[in-house]
Amino acid sequence: MTEKIRNTVVIAVGNQKGGVGKTTNTIQLAGALAERGRKSLIIDLDMTSGATKALRAPTDGWNSSFELLTGAESAEDTIITNDESEVALPPNIHLVPSSRKLAELDTFLAQNPWLIHQNLLLEPINRLRGKYDYVFLDTPPQKTKTTIPALKAADYAVLSAMPDHLAVSALAEALSDIVAAQKHANSNLALLGVILCAVPRPKTRLATALVGYVEQSCVDATGRTLKFSTEISRSVVVQEAQRAGQTIMQYQGDHPVADEYRTLAKEFEDRLQRFRQEQAVAPKVEEVVHA
Ligand SMILES: Nc1ncnc2c1ncn2[C@@H]1O[C@H](COP(=O)(O)OP(=O)(O)OP(=O)(O)O)[C@@H](O)[C@H]1O
Ligand SMILES: [Mg+2]
Repeated sequence: MTEKIRNTVVIAVGNQKGGVGKTTNTIQLAGALAERGRKSLIIDLDMTSGATKALRAPTDGWNSSFELLTGAESAEDTIITNDESEVALPPNIHLVPSSRKLAELDTFLAQNPWLIHQNLLLEPINRLRGKYDYVFLDTPPQKTKTTIPALKAADYAVLSAMPDHLAVSALAEALSDIVAAQKHANSNLALLGVILCAVPRPKTRLATALVGYVEQSCVDATGRTLKFSTEISRSVVVQEAQRAGQTIMQYQGDHPVADEYRTLAKEFEDRLQRFRQEQAVAPKVEEVVHA
């Protein structure tokens, strides 16, 4: 049977600060979208292999995002699916794992001066279009050599933050990266939204203030906030599911955080649809930053 052709949306998930939920939100959102029947590919672009480890996939000995970026292997030959007996990925999620080899990307680029750094993911991503509903690019903290090709190849950026000062202030840097990518590399890139996760319940005064700050400072050209209204609570179930190599929906599907991710997945898809319908008022990051 031939596979149906999907309208692939490519999402770069970022924030310059480490440990702010980029990988967790990528995996759990893909998991919640899977329950809605969507098929996702996660490409782990972080040398420390957060997504690869969380999905219990191998970090060496297999083709990885390094081979994808360098063109040494075709996209299809770097993807791990559930057909491999060594891994048990959540349903409807495929993975391009990462490996320590990503540290050699600088050397590779120096040895191949005709290659254009920012374009490294373009051709592989274009070949994957039609095969997935979503391709999530899980980016590393700090601006490394993999963040730039991700922002060049993505249709949308999604930012992740936790309600702490450093995570929130790093958002400004991530926003200016998106502006730079729009200006110099990818004029179609739009910021889809900001996910706030690990929100303490009940909300502390600090968390309330920081969440309010993100809500008011990340807005589109019409003044509408880009913060997703669904916030993800802080809970040990996140680490427990991670340890089990599962999504929260698989690990404890009736947990309130599983429901939050389901609500977020719906909000995410509703927003994508709205952006498509309202091209004219689609957020321009430049306006967000200079608002
Ligand atoms: N809702 C939550 N409740 C509790 N802990 C959480 C929650 N979301 C994420 N965490 C924890 O926060 C830590 C950092 O999360 P994660 O690895 O997703 O961040 P990251 O931004 O991808 O980090 P890095 O920049 O290192 O790649 C992890 O230990 C994760 O389990
Ligand atoms: Mg990560």
